[in-house]
Amino acid sequence: MDKFVIQGGVKLSGDVTISGAKNSLLALMPATILSPGEFIFDNTPDLRDVNTMSRLLQVMGMGVSLSGKRLHIDSSTINKYEAPYEQVKKMRASIYVLGPLLARYGEARVSLPGGCAWGPRPVNYHIEGMKKLGADISIEHGYIIAKAKKLKGTRISFDTPSVGATGNILMAAALADGTTLIENAAMEPEINQLAQFLKKMGAKIHGIGTKRLEVDGVEELKPANLATIPDRIEAGTFLAAGAISGGAITIKNCIPDHLSAVLSKLEQAGCTITVERSSIKLESPEALEPVSLATDVYPGFPTDMQAQWIALMCRAAGTSVITDSIFVDRFKHVPELNRLGANINVEENVAVVRGSVNLKGAKVMSTDLRASASLILAGLVAEGETEVLRVYHIDRGYESIEKKLQKLGAQIERVKTEEF
Ligand code: UD1
Repeated sequence: MDKFVIQGGVKLSGDVTISGAKNSLLALMPATILSPGEFIFDNTPDLRDVNTMSRLLQVMGMGVSLSGKRLHIDSSTINKYEAPYEQVKKMRASIYVLGPLLARYGEARVSLPGGCAWGPRPVNYHIEGMKKLGADISIEHGYIIAKAKKLKGTRISFDTPSVGATGNILMAAALADGTTLIENAAMEPEINQLAQFLKKMGAKIHGIGTKRLEVDGVEELKPANLATIPDRIEAGTFLAAGAISGGAITIKNCIPDHLSAVLSKLEQAGCTITVERSSIKLESPEALEPVSLATDVYPGFPTDMQAQWIALMCRAAGTSVITDSIFVDRFKHVPELNRLGANINVEENVAVVRGSVNLKGAKVMSTDLRASASLILAGLVAEGETEVLRVYHIDRGYESIEKKLQKLGAQIERVKTEEF
């Protein structure tokens, strides 16, 4: 077990290079099931979630290996159409194998993911979507058992745009008979990259980047290669780290367009933002202004940046109100931030953050990926020493975060510990 030990008070400076996007790869890797053959993904980050997805594909009989930043997948050796509980419980995104297995092999047995650290996360859209595509689905012994001789094009309209369900249905529809219309689809860049990748494989998809995706099913797809887009949430987290520390940093290898909502909120908070083609420079103000916001689907402010924003607002000169409209229970970081001296009250899905507090180092515990990121941000400015326990959560989605922060001047060490 590792923990991070942080000495607060250093203003970050310098530049940091952003890694490939976790949430893109977690959709791209299962897409390889759709066509037996060899695939290469460049700009692959070394993350626990990528390892978990690799392991899942290996358990299904596929060849997966990472050399440097290049991920090789050989999907031709697949011999098991199942995502077992042992894999799915580690990572909900395992459900992404459902659509491709069903479309390519006519059957899938995928463990139900259950809840997650911050509350219930249903998969009804995935299941209903597959049913509408003609699959026969039952739930038995905690597993989704899906069968279909051949999926058939249909019209699917989500009540709320879902990233995972849009991705899963896109993959399934790519090999279905006829046309599938997905309305109120997710427009997140990771879904757009998946759609572009499927097109490279030979899929016929129209409306990429819009709420209305039209997929004309094809008989077969072929293997393709791709470089993963940069991780916009990692980028946003580093920008927040620069701002909370009162520093000036440049993040490199990012797509500024993917961060519009975050950049606009940082500017409202008083930061000076300079955008170039693939880099963003952030200069902190003397004092941060409080900025209230509500998370929303892309291009709105991402729920995956909510915890980091709350940490940042602890240092703003005034009160801000942060609402999570996507995941209403996602506030496990708040009691831990309060242990560091923050003054945050949560009612339902709304956090009221009273700023201008002097955070003071303490032992805190990671509960999930983005909660961990917010605790590290707070540790960067807390007086004295902060210990963040259970950092395996952060290793799910941030590549070598401590090394990248050290390069920016932060005093952060990864230390082995018996503590849990
Ligand atoms: C993905 C991201 C996650 C991010 C989230 C929202 C991956 C691997 N994970 O998760 O980091 O926080 O998008 O941007 O890409 N919903 C249902 N029924 C369903 C599916 C979703 O009601 O079957 C609801 C959810 O409870 C939530 C909303 O739809 O309120 C959006 O969730 P969704 O976009 O599906 O999140 P994930 O794909 O699980």
